Amino acid sequence: MRIGLLQFAPQPGAVRTNLDRIAHALANARTDLIVLPELCTTGYLFASRSELARLAEPVPAGPTCEAMAALSRDSNTAIVWGMPELSDTGRRGQPAGTCIFNSAVMVTPQGRFHTYRKAHLFLDEKDLFDPGDSPFPVFDLGSVKIGALVCFDHFFPEAARSLALRGAQIICHPSNLVLEYAHTNTITRATENRVFWILANRTGSETLGDKRLAFNGRSQIIAPDGRLLGCAGPDSEETIISEIDPAEALDKKVTPRNDLFLDRRTDLYSA
Ligand code: ACM
Repeated sequence: MRIGLLQFAPQPGAVRTNLDRIAHALANARTDLIVLPELCTTGYLFASRSELARLAEPVPAGPTCEAMAALSRDSNTAIVWGMPELSDTGRRGQPAGTCIFNSAVMVTPQGRFHTYRKAHLFLDEKDLFDPGDSPFPVFDLGSVKIGALVCFDHFFPEAARSLALRGAQIICHPSNLVLEYAHTNTITRATENRVFWILANRTGSETLGDKRLAFNGRSQIIAPDGRLLGCAGPDSEETIISEIDPAEALDKKVTPRNDLFLDRRTDLYSA
């Protein structure tokens, strides 16, 4: 299976331009699964929730999903990307109303859509987005199980563990990283769950009033034993691709007598 990522600097607010750029970059990628950064069609900083609402779209009914579905079909690859998701159904267990989630969406060449809504919101995202309401879903891509997390979720081992326990073999991780922890945390998350991990980060910076965020690139593909299979530079637009056997992620053994799932002591774990 050929898995990959695209690292680039999205242009804030320019959805059509970003989609064209993604289409151009993916034209010759020849992957089965490719992961793009968090909020990669809109950029990251928003002046207000109403500005964010203008850029958010329903999934899968909006023009971004339509463009991604066409791209997925034409390039014969599943695509996972981050976008603001507009939902007027309300959050689970709450009255109907407009919600905006920081979502990772997957579309397959057959046009099937799956969505994960970021559970752990970072910094000022808490003023803009609604926190995710889905219990870490796992998606089928042929016979391979795919999980998705978004950026800051890497800090919560329970999120990756939940996906791995549900059978995820590859964790797709669209990100807009500004702190320095994720590049090492994701190696640990991949190793402790024995899964493949695709960290698709962005580059460049965004300024809004007195806020300035610099995104630190270095996107990476990690093997279940923690080896880096591919790694991008800190500020380059790059496509990284690796050929993997996803079945490797089904073996949770680290020694002949230690299986990381079977050896868990859930009888001792509690708050
Ligand atoms: C982040 O969660 N975008 C840092």
